[in-house]
Amino acid sequence: MKDFWKKQIEKKWKLVFLAPMDWYWDSAYRQAMKRISPDIICVSEFYSADWLVHSKLLADSVLPHTESENPLIIQIFWKDPEMFAQAAKIISNPKYNIAWIDINMWCPAKKVVRSWHGSCLLINEQTAFAIVKAMNEATHLPISVKTRLSFDWNQDLINFVKWLEAAWASLVTIHGRTAKQAYTWKADFTNIYELKKHVSIPVICNWDIMNYDDGMKKVQNLDWIMIGRWSFGNPWCFLAGEYHPTLSELLDQMEFHALKLVETKWEKKWNLEIRKHLVQYLKFFPGVKAYRKRLVTTDSFENTQNILNDVREEYKQHLDKKPGLGELDFLKDSVEKKED
Ligand SMILES: Cc1cc2nc3c(=O)[nH]c(=O)nc-3n(C[C@H](O)[C@H](O)[C@H](O)COP(=O)(O)O)c2cc1C
Repeated sequence: MKDFWKKQIEKKWKLVFLAPMDWYWDSAYRQAMKRISPDIICVSEFYSADWLVHSKLLADSVLPHTESENPLIIQIFWKDPEMFAQAAKIISNPKYNIAWIDINMWCPAKKVVRSWHGSCLLINEQTAFAIVKAMNEATHLPISVKTRLSFDWNQDLINFVKWLEAAWASLVTIHGRTAKQAYTWKADFTNIYELKKHVSIPVICNWDIMNYDDGMKKVQNLDWIMIGRWSFGNPWCFLAGEYHPTLSELLDQMEFHALKLVETKWEKKWNLEIRKHLVQYLKFFPGVKAYRKRLVTTDSFENTQNILNDVREEYKQHLDKKPGLGELDFLKDSVEKKED
């Protein structure tokens, strides 16, 4: 696996990564995305190295995954090299079949930064390099880092990544903002393009890439792209050519996603989790208004199936229409009247 990247670069294949997302990206989400876009590479949501070391239960609940999710990258966060190294050993157990480990030097949340984790490692460079080194000594798996342009513009990205490379980081993902910038900042990869001229490891760019085609415009001299929020309810965003699903494809995908949640989570938990995904799939479908309340309160798989079947029945004349292209916008008036 260590030369996985070299092979991909030789193939000149543009890989697409599913960004790690706490509270969203579980096994069911990954399976749902890969059903449509089997070639993407998924990074897990972040797990505390400390928890993985101290809770076998956590390790045994988050590391096992299905064949279809491979190769799977596990992301961890913490603050000291020793704990990272111990967690790396656990993750490397062949029974989990994890492809590589990603270190979170990204998270800007106040409580994370105040306790010296996440993006705070950008201002604690020596610890950051020691973490990568300690993990490389602890595991045969490749180690990658997800980080930002800088913490507050007072750090030097190029030197930082050069040092990560010297500590044997195999790959870096750069999110195109600093830890201090709010969501208002526009995507600008200029500094990432410059970075790539100074390092030889693959560099992935991330931030506000809407779909594969958008990513191919932005990737320039970089190696690969990573997409996060734009995949909500839209696993087609990873495909070349801006594919727009039909209403029928959307409903089938929702049912598949719900089923995978049932299979991977205990009932009460999946009930709560599926609700946030269902409406996302139908965000361009005017008819969703009448079903929103039922979708966000569904409490069983059967109930979810019933709702989807009701939509199929009510809109049976339009199942081959593509809501994302506005082909069902003519329904808006009738839906609004119904709401009144
Ligand atoms: C709800 C949410 C949870 C996130 N959780 C993580 C995480 O666990 N680890 C991480 O490195 N980034 C996390 N991120 C950041 C994303 O991986 C990604 O960098 C960010 O959303 C920008 O990419 P996008 O514009 O393609 O969404 C999270 C973002 C959001 C919105």
